[in-house]
Amino acid sequence: MTSTSAGIVVVTGGAGFIGSHVVERLIGLGRRVVVIDDFRTGKRANLAPWADRARFGFAGTEPALEVLTVDVAEGIFAALAPVTARFGPVERVIHLAAQVSVVASVENPLVDVHVNYRGTVQVLEYARAAGVRKVAFASSSAVYGDVDELPVREATPCQPLSPYGIDKYASEKMLHYYSAVHGVPTTALRFFNVYGPRQDPSSPYSGVISIFADRGRDGRDLTIFGDGEQTRDFVYVGDVARAVVDAALGDAGDRAVLNVGTSREITINELATTIAGLCGRGSRIVHAPARSGEIVRSVAAVDRAREVLGFTAATSLTDGLRETLRSVGAMA
Ligand SMILES: NC(=O)c1ccc[n+]([C@@H]2O[C@H](COP(=O)([O-])OP(=O)(O)OC[C@H]3O[C@@H](n4cnc5c(N)ncnc54)[C@H](O)[C@@H]3O)[C@@H](O)[C@H]2O)c1
Repeated sequence: MTSTSAGIVVVTGGAGFIGSHVVERLIGLGRRVVVIDDFRTGKRANLAPWADRARFGFAGTEPALEVLTVDVAEGIFAALAPVTARFGPVERVIHLAAQVSVVASVENPLVDVHVNYRGTVQVLEYARAAGVRKVAFASSSAVYGDVDELPVREATPCQPLSPYGIDKYASEKMLHYYSAVHGVPTTALRFFNVYGPRQDPSSPYSGVISIFADRGRDGRDLTIFGDGEQTRDFVYVGDVARAVVDAALGDAGDRAVLNVGTSREITINELATTIAGLCGRGSRIVHAPARSGEIVRSVAAVDRAREVLGFTAATSLTDGLRETLRSVGAMA
């Protein structure tokens, strides 16, 4: 018997970039997974390999993966009812579904509030009603805003600069409230800049690595906004999935807020040079005017996640970039 006999793990936003890696990891651990996604940015293709349980050696007749097409901020009680009637209760929830664009949150804050705040409260209401044993939530380094001291620690005062950052921060507070008042164990994970296979380069808001990978594959110019000395903490998606799954399946870290990064500060110049070199297709690095409002430097302090979850990001930037570039055909 597989451990699908353990309770269901719900992954909201499971058809997205990070979500699909989380699903991959959970199914690899033998867990029964239910994805909740409305496919506004997620893709069915991201889940296709796990829709076929036979490839994962599930001997039973029941599926290891169910996908429910539903808005996380609206219908999750009704959508989950038939699944739990058949397979038993939801044991753990990984809440990743979100409107993921800072720029879009500025343009349309009501959508951001609906998905990124109301959606979180819906998940927590479900968790309270169903007696869920842990909710792990994808927060963001965007909660910090401009900070005076680096590396950024979880205790650094948060000054979010966008509706996206504000809704993530408010969601963290709601997690804490549900744990303290309703006894729902919760962990919030503040992801830094996540990259890796299945990140969508077509979105104008996509991560810089997926855009550079896409352009580097075709030998097109890599455009850096500003002097390129701005920095980020790039963390590989496989490491992020491990942190999230460990936080969700373990009971450690109730009410914890944890940075998920590498503690390595990488300039955009260094990143572009490395990607152009790995692709080897003659991309030139060009500079365009700096974008206003962009945070200049960002790097995470990671000791708390190590202490609470035993988590360290294991993938070097070069190894992670190789995987990413291979996945889009930009490297042999
Ligand atoms: N990628 C990063 O660098 C990064 C950094 C910090 C935080 N995060 C957070 O990680 C999570 C996953 O992000 P991602 O990069 O995988 O983005 P993504 O867009 O690939 O994934 C988000 C998923 O949520 C789904 N979704 C959106 N609104 C929904 C709704 N109302 N109901 C149901 N599903 C909905 C989308 O269809 C998509 O599948 C998000 O919460 C995001 O804010 C990501």
